[in-house]
Amino acid sequence: ENEIAVLDDGKVEFFDVHGIPVEKEMLVADFDMEAAEKGGYAHFMLKEIHEQPTAIKTTITPRIVDGMPNLEECGLTYDRLKGYNNIFVVACGTAMHAGLVGKYVLEKIGRIPVTVDMASEFRYRDPIIAKGDLVILVSQSGETADTLAALRMAKERGAETLSIVNVKGSSIARESDMVLYTHAGPEISVASTKAYIVQLSVFYLLSFAIAYARGAISKEECMRLTAELQNVPNMLEVVLKTPDNCQYVASQLVNKENLLYIGRGLDYALSMEGSLKLKEISYIHSESYAAGELKHGTISLVTNNMPVIAVATQRELLDKTISNVKEVKARGAYVVLVTHGYINVDDEVADYKIGLPTIDDLLMPMLTVVPLQLIAYYTSVLRGNDVDKPRNLAKSVTVE
Ligand code: M6R
Repeated sequence: ENEIAVLDDGKVEFFDVHGIPVEKEMLVADFDMEAAEKGGYAHFMLKEIHEQPTAIKTTITPRIVDGMPNLEECGLTYDRLKGYNNIFVVACGTAMHAGLVGKYVLEKIGRIPVTVDMASEFRYRDPIIAKGDLVILVSQSGETADTLAALRMAKERGAETLSIVNVKGSSIARESDMVLYTHAGPEISVASTKAYIVQLSVFYLLSFAIAYARGAISKEECMRLTAELQNVPNMLEVVLKTPDNCQYVASQLVNKENLLYIGRGLDYALSMEGSLKLKEISYIHSESYAAGELKHGTISLVTNNMPVIAVATQRELLDKTISNVKEVKARGAYVVLVTHGYINVDDEVADYKIGLPTIDDLLMPMLTVVPLQLIAYYTSVLRGNDVDKPRNLAKSVTVE
């Protein structure tokens, strides 16, 4: 911010570019040193994946009062929540993928239009935003340059801004009108895992609250969904107890150079996150594709050398996705299907199934993401990569 800090033994002073002292408010970071150690795990990424149940509990518990979401800490009363005309979600990378899940849930139950943008596109596309709109900025670090620039633009145009941020006192948190902190603790691994899941959990609370405020769901339905969300950490503990299925899948992928992830609806949003995670740490080229869009071009890439990870947890879309899965299987692809544990899958549909416990389909992304993270993790380990510090990447992208 064009300032200079002089660090000395036990003191710090700030100056502007002309050398004039600048007064600063002292903020104490509640940083737990243990969180910055691997604590017996081989990598920070694995540790952070295992921290997810606790991170969700810490993030949502203080925001549930008498079984209902309560976001009044930042001024988001039910009255205020019902007043917005449009919602924009702006973020980068994994945080943007959390926004895609948020869009789906907000539109499905809140019946409010939501647009999701990559911050690098949003800031230059002259978006139509105005007073009465809510712009949500999502960022683990709170310092991502494009997201910060998008926030400043949204404010200039009169929209209200809400940030969902993990790092306390970061630039995006300080400059936005309202902030909902995620409480994931420090995320050290470059590949974001626990920050994503807590961003999802905030989007769920926000969606339930907006849906109720707008009269789109009843109080009973809002309480039922909130209770389902509170149940997620226990279910995640179950999912985390069986990493061997993901290790097996990683052993099948380790020598491949290309991969496809497919899904529909929420599963498509998850397949994007699975694909990003895999490519960023394993260096295997992968793409995610809306399953119904395959036959409009991409299916020509499918051979016996193109594994496909199909995500199919949305039961109203299950038949449609399975028929796409059969199409890629018929072209020789090795298929891994991520779906509900109780769903039986014949050999002619998939080569391997990862079965998940069942909750409301709307909340399945909270469970589905874990095997996708673990597949990426174990593939990276098997390829001998530096899992926590993948090449060419930085944890915090503070330049354009
Ligand atoms: O700190 P941010 O959440 O704003 O960072 C956004 C992206 O740079 C980040 O999510 C990136 O995509 C991760 N490395 C993905 O794992």
